[in-house]
Amino acid sequence: MVDSNFQILYSKDRIQERVEALAGEISDYYQHCNEPVVAVCVLKGAFIFFADLFRKLRVQPEIDFVRLASYGEKTYRDEKVVCEKDLEVSIKGKHVLVVEDIVDTGCTIDYFTRHLRERGPISVKVCALVQKRERSEIDVALNFSGFYLERGFVVGYGLDYAEKYRHLEDIWTMPE
Ligand code: PRP
Repeated sequence: MVDSNFQILYSKDRIQERVEALAGEISDYYQHCNEPVVAVCVLKGAFIFFADLFRKLRVQPEIDFVRLASYGEKTYRDEKVVCEKDLEVSIKGKHVLVVEDIVDTGCTIDYFTRHLRERGPISVKVCALVQKRERSEIDVALNFSGFYLERGFVVGYGLDYAEKYRHLEDIWTMPE
């Protein structure tokens, strides 16, 4: 399944504990909102986390999916991110919860939250399973955060390396 030099960083049990805790925090936050809530899954990496989180919520948001792609070496950070599949629902007058698997440089989430705020939502909050510091370019303030990772490349639980390893139940570090 994985090479012998991969190591488990977050076990599936530990991930599920964090997901449960995050679902509790998110539910507490939104349960008294009178307006609709839309949970947005950023494809592809967040799809497993999103599905697990969604099923543990005590509130029932509408759901939608976006696909954002980032391209390495453009001059301005906005040019690095392209929206390849946009939202299908309107977010005007609604609360939006963006669900990401990982925040790395911060460019994707910075671009996307600014893009969302132009569409008239009441609020935009971000939940990420892993926040990585090593390559951070933009300081992203997460509203709901699973794990904080100083450095390392991680795969599993939706996260890939060249489209491999998304199916793994644990999150593993790969040798660099
Ligand atoms: C990953 C992740 C975030 C983005 C974070 O997506 O899902 O969307 O990178 O990186 P950043 O903070 O440096 O912008 P990726 O482009 O690997 O695509 P995937 O989700 O389809 O695997």
